[in-house]
Amino acid sequence: MLKKILGTILCAALVVTAFTGCAGSGKKKVGISMPTKDLQRWNQDGDYMKQKFEAAGYEVDLQYAGNKADTQLSQVENMINSGCKVLVIAAIESSSLGTALDKAAAKKIPVIAYDRLLMDNANVSYYATFDNYKVGTIQGNFVKEKLDLDNAAGPFNIEFTAGDPGDNNAGFFFNGAMDVLKPYIDSGKLVVVSGEKTFEKVATAEWSTANAQSRAENIINANYADKQIDAWLCSNDSTAQGVVNALDSRYNMKDKWPVVTGQDCDIVSVKNMLAGKQTMSVFKDTRTLAERTVTMVNSILKNEKVETNNTYNNNKKEVPSYLCEPVFADINNYKQILIDSGYYKEDQLK
Ligand code: BGC
Repeated sequence: MLKKILGTILCAALVVTAFTGCAGSGKKKVGISMPTKDLQRWNQDGDYMKQKFEAAGYEVDLQYAGNKADTQLSQVENMINSGCKVLVIAAIESSSLGTALDKAAAKKIPVIAYDRLLMDNANVSYYATFDNYKVGTIQGNFVKEKLDLDNAAGPFNIEFTAGDPGDNNAGFFFNGAMDVLKPYIDSGKLVVVSGEKTFEKVATAEWSTANAQSRAENIINANYADKQIDAWLCSNDSTAQGVVNALDSRYNMKDKWPVVTGQDCDIVSVKNMLAGKQTMSVFKDTRTLAERTVTMVNSILKNEKVETNNTYNNNKKEVPSYLCEPVFADINNYKQILIDSGYYKEDQLK
């Protein structure tokens, strides 16, 4: 009899374990794969998601891949093998995780592309991101308005610094900005003195501040010894920081500081904005994206309808997507959107 009771208890435990996917805790495990700890935003994304998933009753396996695509691949494979029931991935190289995505599909593990779309593989269940093309148009429109391109005589000198070619977002940011500014380049009102205006030419490997800085220094040395730079369109804050460093050290006409764009509202960049060295940024509230991702996962695992507001083609599939809204930020509204909302504390920006 005792044996029978123990047997029943054991069976029940096994059934529960198989159902929840996480021996011991009874919680479902979510694998979160982030690209790198080097940039502020991914630390924040990871932290928020960990907090929010844990608060929603999940166990979390959060890994950072040091910007190495092969490390990310093996981390994701480990997540699959260690019983994760769902994967949330911000890819380093958008097409490099195919074998892991196939393995996930074989185990019926849903995959959410986080912030960056996973390309060239059909096994991507959903995509949660911000409207990346819109980020670029916000930056482009800002330059257009600041230089008053429709009314001022010009011509104005401009340079471009874009993101990592392996990141699918980088093209969206660049194209969004270029679509606004190209008519002015074509008409001669904007002049790219370096001549570098294609994405391939202006891209920055790994979105690295150092890479952006050294290219900017070369451009300044070669073209701007005594010429004014009116605007430097940077796709994000880590690259804008490199450009600002280059302007600080190499640019002679410091009284004619250019309009410098960015994205993310990184602390360093907000400080640069307060110091007048970066002119704007785009705020993408990572708390919102993390919450959206938790909502998606809850719906998927409960077999409920997943709320989406768009689709993105990843060359193999129309991936149902949820796009959050990016918000323009500069010194006039940073208090309201960054401090009042609790994103930063005032003294972090000192
Ligand atoms: C993100 C940006 C970020 C960049 C560099 C992009 O995919 O959307 O917010 O600045 O990667 O990490």
